[in-house]
This record gives sequence, C-alpha cells and structure tokens, in this order.
Amino acid sequence: MQDLSGPQDPAAAAPLPSGVLGTKPSGRMHAPELLGAELAGHTVGETALADPIFSCRSVSVHYGGIQALQNVTLDIGRAQVLACIGPSGCGKSTFLRCLNRMNDTIVGARVTGTILLDGEDIMAKQQDVARLRARVGMVFQKPNPFPKSIYDNVAYGPRIHKLTRTRADLDELVCTCLQRVGLWNEVKDRLHGAGMGLSGGQQQRLCIARALAVQPEVILMDEPCSALDPIASANIEDLIEQLRATYAIVIVTHSMQQAARVSQRTAYFHLGRLIEVGETDRLFTNPRHRLTEDYITGRFG
Ligand SMILES: Nc1ncnc2c1ncn2[C@@H]1O[C@H](COP(=O)(O)OP(=O)(O)O)[C@@H](O)[C@H]1O
Ligand SMILES: [Mg+2]
Repeated sequence: MQDLSGPQDPAAAAPLPSGVLGTKPSGRMHAPELLGAELAGHTVGETALADPIFSCRSVSVHYGGIQALQNVTLDIGRAQVLACIGPSGCGKSTFLRCLNRMNDTIVGARVTGTILLDGEDIMAKQQDVARLRARVGMVFQKPNPFPKSIYDNVAYGPRIHKLTRTRADLDELVCTCLQRVGLWNEVKDRLHGAGMGLSGGQQQRLCIARALAVQPEVILMDEPCSALDPIASANIEDLIEQLRATYAIVIVTHSMQQAARVSQRTAYFHLGRLIEVGETDRLFTNPRHRLTEDYITGRFG
C-alpha cells in the first residue's frame, strides 16, 4: 500500500505543460472523474450540505410537454447567499419558483421530486401554501409594491397572518422592517403615501421589507437589481450582505460580478440542468466543468 499520510511530493502537484494529454492552453486540467459525471448528467461539486434549510432531490419541472428543469439535486444553506447563474432560459427562475411553490400558479406546470424545508415536505398535499410563502419570501425583478400606502404594504402580511395583536405592535413591526432595509429615514414622514410613488430602488427595498414583515426563513430574489440603477443596485447588494446573517437567500442574477460579490455559494445551470455548484470563490476561479468555464469566461451566455 502506498503511504498517503506523508507530505505530498511538490512535483506531483505542479501543473503539466500545456499540450500534455488532458490539459488545455491555460494549463488547467479537467479532473478525469468529471467525464463520467458529465455523461451521467450528474452535478459537479458539493450538492449536499450539513444541516441545510432546503434539501432538493431530483427536482424536475415540466411546462406542458416541455421539460424546463431536469433532476436538480441541491441543498441550500442557512445564513448564506446562494447565487443561481446561467444563460437565459436555463431554468433559474423555474428552480426558484419550486422553493415556494410559485410554479403552482402556472397552468400546465408540473413539479416532481422532493423538496424539504427544514425537513418538511413542501410538496405535501397538506402543506399550507400561504404559510409556506411567508416562510419563503420572494422578491421579483420588477419591484411590485401593492397599490397601497407604504405602511399598508409592510403591514399587509402581518395582518393576514395575525402576527401582531395591537396597533402599537404593528406600528413597531412596520418601523423595524423599514429600518432593516434602510428605508425608514427616507419614508417616515410619508408612511401613508403610495408605495408606488417611491423610486425604483426604494420600491425594491419596500418589497424586501414586506417580505421581512412575515418573519421569513428564506428570501428568494429573482434578478432583484435588473431594473435598478447602479446606486440602487449597490444598496440592494449591501442589504443582502446584512440580511444573510439572519436569512438564507437565493438570488438569481445574470451578473457574474454580482454573484461573486454577494454570494458564498454559486450554482451554474445550463439547459435545465444543474451543472456545477460550489463555493463562489472556487467556482469563479477554478470551475471544474467545461460548461461552467465556458460561461464564466464569456464564451457563451
Ligand atoms: N410559464 C411558462 N410556460 C411555459 N414555459 C415556460 C414558462 N416559464 C418558463 N418557461 C420555459 O422554461 C425554460 C426555463 O425558463 P426560466 O426558468 O424562466 O429560465 P431563466 O430564469 O433561467 O431565464 C425556458 O425554456 C422557458 O421558455
Ligand atoms: Mg429568469
């Protein structure tokens, strides 16, 4: 038996010269086991986590006869940001919508597989979907405040779910949520003005405050900065960084720079398959799948 416990021979770890079988001009070599994984359609990287908030196993989605998501197996961690990236139409939004059963609202959509939220099967018939969507809040590309006052936007969920008993408690909750998203000082004198009267960036923060008001565990964000100017986008990114101390966040973004800035873990999707997942820094500096590398180096997408 070879002794594996001793120090590694440094020569063994040195890169092979370019052109040697299995290497590319960059000198990087795809690990040989990936060929098998690629053929079998398995995801490369660490799909499983210890103590995940979400555990997805073999999740597939069909829209009528068309399969939009194929056998996605992925855990989602607590108190961290998972970025979902990939070319347009690869299934990122479809995957996100599985996590709070938003695909239920699409006629002809069929979701199969298993999705556990904190160990609980969210696809079970007895699942309370309204409660699920409070636990797993969603923020969309285009800010979508209700046609109500700023106050009533934030108070809406707590009223429906009866989270507060007195008006003073509700006032306090609205204030706290607006403070958390950095909006309180900007709106405290116009709480009864229309939510839709705010700027785009403020509206997006209002929508995040509305999600926070029902005490979520997870926040899903589908390209939350796509409709915002750079300063408003930077504010949202700062907010994501603060929120991840408390919440699990899954963000879909078409900006790889944004994924690299805000996330700790990244999932790369391609044609409905989860190709690779791993620590964000590793995935961007040393992608292990050819398709991931092609995408992050801008060869397509
Ligand atoms: N409501 C829908 N009805 C039918 N097909 C859909 C619907 N939503 C998405 N699709 C299809 O599913 C695939 C994945 O779409 P989507 O999840 O929106 O991708 P992404 O968010 O990565 O751009 C695409 O081929 C898209 O056309
Ligand atoms: Mg999308």
